[in-house]
Amino acid sequence: MSACKKYYLPKRLQYDQLLFSEQDPENNAKILLDFYNKRLKLLEYNSLNLAGLDNLLLKTAMKHNLEKVLITASVDDWENFLSQGYVLECLNKFYFSGKPGFHMSKFLSASRRQSSNPAEADRILQMVLQKSVTIPHALPEGYTVRPCRDEDIPAMVQLFTRVFSTYPSPVYDPAYLFQTTHTNSYYLLLINDRKQIVSIISAEINKRYSNAEVTDCSTLPEYRGKGFMSALLAALEKEIKKRGITNLYSIARATSPGINTVLRRHDYTYGGRFIKNCNISGGFEDMNLWFKQLNHWQY
Ligand SMILES: CC(C)(COP(=O)(O)OP(=O)(O)OC[C@H]1O[C@@H](n2cnc3c(N)ncnc32)[C@H](O)[C@@H]1OP(=O)(O)O)[C@@H](O)C(=O)NCCC(=O)NCCS
Repeated sequence: MSACKKYYLPKRLQYDQLLFSEQDPENNAKILLDFYNKRLKLLEYNSLNLAGLDNLLLKTAMKHNLEKVLITASVDDWENFLSQGYVLECLNKFYFSGKPGFHMSKFLSASRRQSSNPAEADRILQMVLQKSVTIPHALPEGYTVRPCRDEDIPAMVQLFTRVFSTYPSPVYDPAYLFQTTHTNSYYLLLINDRKQIVSIISAEINKRYSNAEVTDCSTLPEYRGKGFMSALLAALEKEIKKRGITNLYSIARATSPGINTVLRRHDYTYGGRFIKNCNISGGFEDMNLWFKQLNHWQY
């Protein structure tokens, strides 16, 4: 039986992404075509026929020359996806409203399957895992943390442009930042004593599964290593807890000691590595998953 019947009209999300839903009641698949990162993401599914769903995903990915298919399987399905040839890249124990999410992939090109710098990523992971969990330092006098406002967007674009030569989402585009800050993302800024933005962090909130991705972490080069990202993450966690989100996770460049250290210091658990996951800082890089379950009773 063909799983590939009709599609809804595609909806344009950003410059390089296309979202569509597949109408077959057997699959109920919501699919993101991510051209910029050359990958297909299955965002939602409700499938009785995983072989048919897999067939649909592969056909769609190949048609658009995408190199990687990513799915997040539930505890009931992940072994069936294994049988369909998917490999388990990462595990977030609390992704689906407190239940585990199994991040699994199929690679459609040999080069995409090859880790970018595994020895260096392993070295950094071991170094970071030896660090203890710590409480962030107080901010220096004159420095403040606050949510972003519309008028901050040009300065945010400037900071992102300085920090990243390429980035998986179009944070260089003021229209994208305007749209995302007014929908599902919450941005916090760290401001110095001259009212300049020196660090940015955001949480992309998924209310359906009560989780949020900590992302867009960036500090201007001359302000790094002073505990600013750590302070921002602590402030972000407090805000996210108030919104009833239970699971936070972050997908961090595997060869960046800074961001992996910040997550480890805040008691995130390492959940595995996505191979050549996205186009960041000039190429396709391996990304580490870190996750944390928020303890609401502490607040
Ligand atoms: C990652 C980044 C946001 C961290 O910001 P920051 O304000 O410097 O972070 P903090 O000062 O709070 O913490 C950084 C930690 O990493 C450590 N660190 C940084 N570089 C390191 C290195 N090369 N080797 C070992 N540790 C390192 C710092 O010592 C500090 O650890 P500590 O808690 O033991 O003091 C910043 O480096 C950055 O903008 N990098 C480029 C963008 C990027 O890669 N973002 C992540 C995308 S996934």
